[in-house]
Amino acid sequence: MSATLADERLIVALDFHKADDVKKLVDELGDKIIFYKVGMELFYSVGTEVIDFLKSRNKKIFLDLKLHDIPATVAGGLCSLANLGANILNVHAFGGFTMMKNSAEKLREESERLGIEKPKLVAITVLTSINQDDWNGLGLSQTKISDTVIRLAKSAKSAGLDGVVASPQEAGLISEACGEDFLIITPGIRPAGSDINDQSRISTPAAAIKNGANYLVVGRPIRAAKNPVEAAENILKEIAGI
Ligand code: C5P
Repeated sequence: MSATLADERLIVALDFHKADDVKKLVDELGDKIIFYKVGMELFYSVGTEVIDFLKSRNKKIFLDLKLHDIPATVAGGLCSLANLGANILNVHAFGGFTMMKNSAEKLREESERLGIEKPKLVAITVLTSINQDDWNGLGLSQTKISDTVIRLAKSAKSAGLDGVVASPQEAGLISEACGEDFLIITPGIRPAGSDINDQSRISTPAAAIKNGANYLVVGRPIRAAKNPVEAAENILKEIAGI
């Protein structure tokens, strides 16, 4: 596949716990993949070394640590992460408006102080793995998941965040409610016929983009495929065909 089919909108999730596995997949996928997601499994085991590695390969990084704590602690955590060189950082919208607003302000100030481009800050709305039973178990059966996602997205926008992480099924509603400049990152992507695993509110790559997603996060459909390069190429072709 030519480098021209590379598409920044596809973010590959590096849910490994060994640096060697990261290097193998990144080398295998080569120039096709520009954006990678580092989550807690990898960051907790390998640490900042993986960020340095991805930067040395000129990759973009979504550091998906999903911070969720009181406002001062989350803002402090983000300031500690600001200088690592990630392009996107995130917090849980369920941490509340005050936490999000404080985090956005402190991250802006810290980035100015460091003289770096501010990483985008996005909020997790409702995890794509949450199904109706989980939702009811949280005592939220009186509310619709999608209404809550929209409420959290609007709250994240007024708190000064750059976007949200949500299910591709909710992307259209978010873009209507928050406007086109507000980033929508969608995990829960499953090409037709692939295993759902522990995800619930899923869509195909094409449907996610049609619904207004700016970025698609894809992990197991690429990482666990017999041929990860072919799996990535197929998703890139599907996106390019829209
Ligand atoms: O393997 P799979 O494609 O399901 O991976 C999805 C990735 O996106 C995982 O790394 C997961 O942590 C992340 N994620 C998610 N749902 C969210 C936020 C992040 O699945 N709401």
